[in-house]
Amino acid sequence: MAISLVIFGASGDLTSRKLVPALFQLFRKQRLPEDTRIVGFSRTPYSDDQWRQALAESTERFNGRHFDRAAWDKFAAAVHYQAGDIAQPGDFDTLHQRLCELDGSRDGTRVYYLATAPQFYEDIVARLGACGLADEVHGPRRIVIEKPFGSDGPTARRLNDDVHKVFKEKQVYRIDHYLGKETVQNILVLRFANTIFEPVWNRNYVDHVQITVAEEVTVGRRGSFYDQTGVLRDMFQNHLLQLLMTTAMEAPVRFEAEAVRDEKVKVLRAITPLSSAQVATDTLRGQYRSYRGEPGVAPDSQTATFAAVKLAVDNWRWQGVPFYLRSGKAMSCRTTQIVIQFRSPPHMVFNSRSTNICEANQLVIQIQPAEGIQLHFQTKVPDAGMRLRMTDLDFSFVREFAGTMPEAYERLLLDVFQGDASLFARADEVELAWGIVDPIAAAWREIRQPALETYEPGLWGPANATEWMSQQGRQWFDTCPVLS
Ligand code: BG6
Repeated sequence: MAISLVIFGASGDLTSRKLVPALFQLFRKQRLPEDTRIVGFSRTPYSDDQWRQALAESTERFNGRHFDRAAWDKFAAAVHYQAGDIAQPGDFDTLHQRLCELDGSRDGTRVYYLATAPQFYEDIVARLGACGLADEVHGPRRIVIEKPFGSDGPTARRLNDDVHKVFKEKQVYRIDHYLGKETVQNILVLRFANTIFEPVWNRNYVDHVQITVAEEVTVGRRGSFYDQTGVLRDMFQNHLLQLLMTTAMEAPVRFEAEAVRDEKVKVLRAITPLSSAQVATDTLRGQYRSYRGEPGVAPDSQTATFAAVKLAVDNWRWQGVPFYLRSGKAMSCRTTQIVIQFRSPPHMVFNSRSTNICEANQLVIQIQPAEGIQLHFQTKVPDAGMRLRMTDLDFSFVREFAGTMPEAYERLLLDVFQGDASLFARADEVELAWGIVDPIAAAWREIRQPALETYEPGLWGPANATEWMSQQGRQWFDTCPVLS
């Protein structure tokens, strides 16, 4: 069956940096379903050929050495452009006509990808509905919605309501590109396709879990967006909570959209949102020193570019095991990692200095950029009496598998074409996630606690983050990955 992918926001950054390069990679790998066409929609008055040319240049830039001109020319034959304005209902009728012309008399799947600024989502959805583009008489109709999905609980609920006036939930694909990362999917494989981890993956053996998404970059040219958003909305509501759900969830009965999402949602339901008093003690916020000088940022901005949050997952498996989440811009290095910190041995038999809690076993899941997993464990140092030292079992994707890791969007786009929503967020999931983040944002705004600390770019966030952990008898895993 033919597939038409209609991209709203066709002349935007996401389309040229991520979507089209991912589609082209799928085409090169012969994974793009036959008879797939891409139709761009935005206000820029391109012809088909002008859009193709613009995309050829950007794709060459972003695909680098994987760009192949002959393959591109074949791919580009399926790329079309329809100039139009989201504010003009008539332009949706024209789009409808164009899609019908491209389809001819064939039935087919249509996927509408919202890659515009989020304030246009409601209008696009309503207009798709009004001109009949959501009807499923001639094949499935799906809608893909980029983050941010709302800016808090009430706006996310309103957006869900508006979307549901036109599309049924099973037609809706809310993207979180973290779920498209191979290493994130591999957490499920590690846990549920092996028998040795699950028995220890609980409060009996795990002391705490750390989830870090550190970025070395500053906000750069995104200052005006970021200053309205901040780290909680930009990273926690989506990416960090997705990593937490994947780490903490129970095994789904099978790898199917509803089963997977049911289990993830149960994790969110087990997290009691923090009270204002808890926000003051269980969260930290920081801003890197040069942030207020970035273009688009208010000179007295209170926006946090770093946050650390301690959450409890109140269920049978995780009772008493804190989950420490942290993320920030302008940090020491780019690294996303999940550390499962196991408990110390109950009794130290060896007369060693290695009895510190931080020397207990750790499983470090490196999500990016050094994709892999390390298990840290104690080993006897040879020829040194009974001295012990932490050593590693080290698995690395690049060492083990030939070829480069695919971009997250490749997998996600393919899943949408195939109608598999396992790696997409459900309506209740995004609303529950906001329910965890909103009280933190509100307390920061209203009671102004904890204080917004300044940190020097290139560090692991503000200095009090280290003290905060050590007061709890714990230590951050502040290690930059070694890239081979
Ligand atoms: C985006 C955020 O969702 O994720 C950005 O808006 C952030 O601020 C980016 O830089 C990080 O994604 P990745 O895949 O580079 O870790």
